[in-house]
Amino acid sequence: MATTNDYRLGDFTFPRGWFMIAEAKELDTHKPLAVRFFGKDFALYRGRASGKVVLLDAYCPHMKTHLAAPNRTSYVIQDGMGTNVEGDGIRCPYHAWRFGPDGKCDDIPYHQGPIPAAACVKSWTVVESLGAVWVWHDPEGGEPEWQHPSLAHCDDPQWVQPKWDHLGMLNLHPQELVDNI
Ligand code: FES
Repeated sequence: MATTNDYRLGDFTFPRGWFMIAEAKELDTHKPLAVRFFGKDFALYRGRASGKVVLLDAYCPHMKTHLAAPNRTSYVIQDGMGTNVEGDGIRCPYHAWRFGPDGKCDDIPYHQGPIPAAACVKSWTVVESLGAVWVWHDPEGGEPEWQHPSLAHCDDPQWVQPKWDHLGMLNLHPQELVDNI
């Protein structure tokens, strides 16, 4: 696969911009999804309280359990039930630390006193639009430099809603796709 560097578009493997990472309807059950993009693992879910979509780095800072991957051995989560989404937060399946949509741990069931600031995971900027979930990815960690190019009428339920066809995953640089359209 050609890299961004090969295209002389910068030094980073994955470019800066908005990327589609899921169909919105995949999150309607509140069951968290384990997704992988940009060579990283993430936990993606829809908050029960606000209905907003949340994307967190996948691995709990306690003992590196994946917050969203299906499992059959955890202490607190029944496999595949999505019961670890609480309010707009998510509990780690292993020892039940809860992380808010900002990625900060806000509850440790057996712990009294303040929660260390290091007990957090990165929370990513996401937008739900056009029937899909989009993440702002910047390899240098910057805030979005432009708004997601949403089309307001496509998010209006009075219009026909977009439908996505899954064509599979292509192991290529996004620029190759544009070049070959
Ligand atoms: S590994 Fe996540 S709470 Fe222990």
